Amino acid sequence: MAAITLRINGSERKVDVAPETPLLWVLRDTLELTGTKFGCGVGLCGACTVHVDGAPVRSCSTPVSQAAAKNITTIEGLTAKGLHPLQQAWIEEQVPQCGYCQTGQIMAAAALLAKNPQPSDDQITQAMSGNLCRCGTYDRIRRAIHRAGGAR
Ligand code: FES
Ligand code: FES
Repeated sequence: MAAITLRINGSERKVDVAPETPLLWVLRDTLELTGTKFGCGVGLCGACTVHVDGAPVRSCSTPVSQAAAKNITTIEGLTAKGLHPLQQAWIEEQVPQCGYCQTGQIMAAAALLAKNPQPSDDQITQAMSGNLCRCGTYDRIRRAIHRAGGAR
C-alpha cells in the first residue's frame, strides 16, 4: 500500500492503495465514482475510458501510480454544471440501448471534440474505433458527435 494523491474532477483525493492497482478499481471501489464501467478489463473495449491530462485512457489498464499528479476526469466531472453538449446530444439522438458502453463512448468523443470540434466521419471513425458497443449504436453515436459539434 502507498498513499497516492490523485487530482480527480478538479479535487484532490488521497488513496491508500498498491501503486499497481488499476485506476478503474480506485475510481469505482475506493472513490465510488461508478460512472466509469468495467467491460473487458484488458484494454480492448473502451468502457472504462477516462481522461488523463485531457487524453482518453483505458483506466482498467492504467496503474493508479501513472495517474498521480495528473488531471483525471471521469464522466462525473465532464462538466462543472449541467450537461456537456455531448450528453445533451446523446439524449436528443437517443443513443444508448443497454447503456453499458456509453460512458466510455462519451469520454472518447469528448476528448475528440476538445481537439477537433467538427470532426469528419472518418475522423470520428478513427477516434472512436477502440470503443465497442455490443448493441450496435454506432450510427447514433456518430450523429450525436456531429450534433454536439454543431454540424446539425
Ligand atoms: S474495461 Fe477497460 S478497455 Fe475494456
Ligand atoms: S449500448 Fe449496449 S453495449 Fe453499447
